[in-house]
Amino acid sequence: MHLTVLLDAPRCRTDGTFLIRDVPGTSGRLDVVCRVLLSTFRTVPELCSNLQFFAVFGGPPTPPLQLQVKDVTPKSFPESELDCSLILKALLQQFSKSQQTRHNNWPEFSLAKKGFAEILKEERPVDGHLFYLIERGKPLEETPFSFERPTVIVLGDDQGLPGDHEEILYQYKVQEVSVGTRSLLGSQAISLLLLNLASRLNAS
Ligand SMILES: C[S@@+](CC[C@H](N)C(=O)[O-])C[C@H]1O[C@@H](n2cnc3c(N)ncnc32)[C@H](O)[C@@H]1O
Repeated sequence: MHLTVLLDAPRCRTDGTFLIRDVPGTSGRLDVVCRVLLSTFRTVPELCSNLQFFAVFGGPPTPPLQLQVKDVTPKSFPESELDCSLILKALLQQFSKSQQTRHNNWPEFSLAKKGFAEILKEERPVDGHLFYLIERGKPLEETPFSFERPTVIVLGDDQGLPGDHEEILYQYKVQEVSVGTRSLLGSQAISLLLLNLASRLNAS
């Protein structure tokens, strides 16, 4: 199984000039990125080696920027939202200053100059599933899923996916998938999805 989570963060700053004591108010909602990241790798630790995470930062001063997190083990991953914010602040500052793309102490975290369309083009599974997590989607339990195939899961930040990015997504064969009729936090939606997939895997 190979799962890719792609979070669109169109307001997230592309430098590290936000305040750690007020991440939600000064970073363009990097706190949302940190929470989705933690849910991706912490909800089902046994799935870590099958997962990779992307976020696309579209905020000032130099958008877009791709964050990639991969090759994670339960031990090689930060514990908290604060840890994630500190790692991402250092990584963004380093990239702005010297274009260094990888974090020295956390090589699982890297940046690249890529936007939503480019990432989707590169990562979309040719013979797998492309899921768009959205409240109006088909219930996840009714959505067929093959663990043999690569799967990409796209989700939006606290304001959802912008219309122009939805248009890019719909250029591909995408399935809208819901984890309930209520609008949840992105981090909760990812956790529910991973728990559902893990229970199907255990039952198979
Ligand atoms: C806080 S929600 C965004 C809510 C925003 N008001 C909207 O209308 O898109 C963040 C993201 O979590 C995902 N999400 C939230 N609730 C969901 C649900 N019940 N089913 C599937 N995805 C969900 C969607 O990808 C959404 O873009």
